[in-house]
Amino acid sequence: MKHLFKKGTDLTKPVLLLLHGTGGNEEDLLSLADMISPESSVLSVRGNVSENGMPRFFRRLAEGVFDEEDLIFRTKELHEYIAEAAEKYDFDRDQVVAIGYSNGANIAGSLIFHYKNSLKGAILHHPMVPRRGIELPDLNGLPVFIGAGKNDPICPPEETEELQQLLSSAGAEVHVKWENMGHQLSRAEVEEAAEWFHKHFSS
Ligand code: MLT
Repeated sequence: MKHLFKKGTDLTKPVLLLLHGTGGNEEDLLSLADMISPESSVLSVRGNVSENGMPRFFRRLAEGVFDEEDLIFRTKELHEYIAEAAEKYDFDRDQVVAIGYSNGANIAGSLIFHYKNSLKGAILHHPMVPRRGIELPDLNGLPVFIGAGKNDPICPPEETEELQQLLSSAGAEVHVKWENMGHQLSRAEVEEAAEWFHKHFSS
């Protein structure tokens, strides 16, 4: 997959997997990585799907309606790619924390829904429920941060609550930061994500 890798200055910190929103690229979330864990190595991936020239991590049939078959295929592809990158760049495959926004948060959520140990933790900015009607793996103790907007037209509050519920029922430790905002990423949300990260991942 098209990507960039930046070796960190403290290799005991988790590796940050950055996953952009629709129409973004692997440069987009670098400033978030700097705010959240500047010493970490960064693997930032570009989505393999193009929607009228806009990179995405999986196809959709309409706004908010996912192509489930493609979602499953692309989730596997990303899951396997992380292992490939870990070999290539010599980092610990089991120490990967995702930071995703919107479509990138949705594929990160899908990694968690489909693979037990794909991520060590996840920061999901404005995620949706990636799939319904499947049994989640055992997520005992998995730390997940969700940044959500009370007025998000793409991910309404009920969907955030549903996602929180699904993850918590599988054992994940979910923290939701609510804001009176829409779908856009806010600085306060990223600052709280940084605090959350330090609480969970500072050695
Ligand atoms: C998606 O398709 O993943 C969501 O609707 C968010 C987005 O617009 O990218």
